[in-house]
Amino acid sequence: MTETSYRSPKKRGRIAVFLSGRGSNFISIHDAILRGDIDADIAVVFSNRRNAPGLAVALDRNLETASLNHKDFEGREAFDAAVVKELEARDIDLICLAGYMRILTPLICRAFENRLMNIHPALLPSFPGLHVQQMAVDWGVRFSGATVHFVVPDVDMGPIITQAVVPVLQDDTEETLSARILIEEHKIYPEAVRLYFEGRLEVRGRRVFILD
Ligand code: GAR
Repeated sequence: MTETSYRSPKKRGRIAVFLSGRGSNFISIHDAILRGDIDADIAVVFSNRRNAPGLAVALDRNLETASLNHKDFEGREAFDAAVVKELEARDIDLICLAGYMRILTPLICRAFENRLMNIHPALLPSFPGLHVQQMAVDWGVRFSGATVHFVVPDVDMGPIITQAVVPVLQDDTEETLSARILIEEHKIYPEAVRLYFEGRLEVRGRRVFILD
């Protein structure tokens, strides 16, 4: 059976960041762009919450923002269709989910297949879903971490781009473990985006190869 493969483009890209909260991962990506580490621009920072703190940071940084309230739409598909329209108008190459706490419909996953990344605060495929740092503590796993992956309709199950591992300590709480993982998130997410626009990510089946 031949596997279809996808190779990321080598170009100066246009990114849409999606967030619902404070936006520290968005900041780490933007800082990497400002340092010249990533060949891209953030064309828009989008949120499903008009008062998300991350949107205020984006405005402070003179970035364009947009928000849509899901309550103004009849159902998830209609909401995501409006989101896709916002993106098409801005010629977006890559969506980076950065603490975007809303499940995407297949509509948007297909429209941006291989062009949609997420960061998750656990070593997928362990602990998909929410409150995963607490789950890692409760399970007594010795290691947890963070995963950057491409997004597919099956939540948190897309091809893995990069991961970082942290120890889970005996006296960890959800907060202390989250803080340790977040430090790694801020390294691996910009790294994944950098590799993407260097044209170095190749998706074959469910594996991602990093090309030299
Ligand atoms: C991050 O820890 C991110 O991994 C997590 O939300 C936090 C957002 O923080 N994402 C998920 O749990 C997605 N399921 P931030 O707003 O400071 O980037």
